[in-house]
Amino acid sequence: MKFKVFRSNGEKSYYDDFNVPHEPGQTVLDALFYIQEKLDDSLAFRYSCRGAVCGSCAMLINKVPRLACRTQVERLKEGEDNPDIKGYPALKEGEKLNENSLLVEPLPHFPVIKDLIVDTEKFFEYYQELKPCLKTEGKPPEKEYFMEPEDVKELEEYTNCILCAACFAACPVDGENPDFRGPAALAKLYRFHIDVRDQEDRLELADHKDGWWACEFHTNCNKVCPKNVPPNVAIGKARAELKKKKDDK
Ligand code: SF4
Ligand code: FES
Repeated sequence: MKFKVFRSNGEKSYYDDFNVPHEPGQTVLDALFYIQEKLDDSLAFRYSCRGAVCGSCAMLINKVPRLACRTQVERLKEGEDNPDIKGYPALKEGEKLNENSLLVEPLPHFPVIKDLIVDTEKFFEYYQELKPCLKTEGKPPEKEYFMEPEDVKELEEYTNCILCAACFAACPVDGENPDFRGPAALAKLYRFHIDVRDQEDRLELADHKDGWWACEFHTNCNKVCPKNVPPNVAIGKARAELKKKKDDK
C-alpha cells in the first residue's frame, strides 16, 4: 500500500510517498512505525498508548481526523469508515483521493511543529479556561459522593472524551474563527454543569459569541469522535437552557 505522508519542518512542507507492505489488522499507526523503522527514521508523529486511550495519535487520514492507532488500513482501502463530514478538513467538492494511496496529514486548525505533530496548546488553553474540574461546597462525605444511576447516564457520554482534538480539527467554525472554544471544551463544561455534585454555575463561562453561540451545528464533532461524545448535543442543550433563563428574567 502506498502512503502519501505530509512532511514539514515548520517552514517548508511537502509530501513523501512510501510503500508499506500490508498485513492483516494493520493500523495507520503500525504503518507509520514501519516507515520510521525501515524507510525514514526522520518521520515524526505522536503516540503513547496505542490503544485509543491517550488521544495523542489523532491526525488527518484520508481527509478525516482520526486516531491512527485505531484506524484499520484495510477498512480505508475498502472505502469503509468514512464519516460524511462537511467543510474543511473534508474533501472539497470535486476533489478526489487517490484510490491507490492513503493520505496522512497533521490535524488542521493547529500550527505544525514537525511532520504529523501539531501544537495543541490553544486547544488545552480553551479547555483549562472552562474549568474542567468538579467544584463542590461544604464538607466532603466520609467516603465517596453517591450518585443515582440516572444522574450518571448522560454525564458518562461526555466523560469518555480523551482530548484527542479530532473534533476541533473537524469543526469548520474552528477553522474560520480561532477564538471559538471548540466542541471538546464545551462538552466538558456541560459535563460538569449536569453533574449533580457540582455546585458552580458554569454555563455562563461560555455564554459569549466565541462560546456556546458560535456553533453552527455542522455536527462534524460527533461524527469524527472516536469515543462517540456528542458535543453538538451538549451545545444545543446549553443554549436552550441559557435562552430559557434569559426569557424567564
Ligand atoms: S470530544 Fe471526542 S473528538 Fe473531541 S477531543 Fe473528546 S474524544 Fe476527541
Ligand atoms: S496512541 Fe493513544 S490514542 Fe492512539
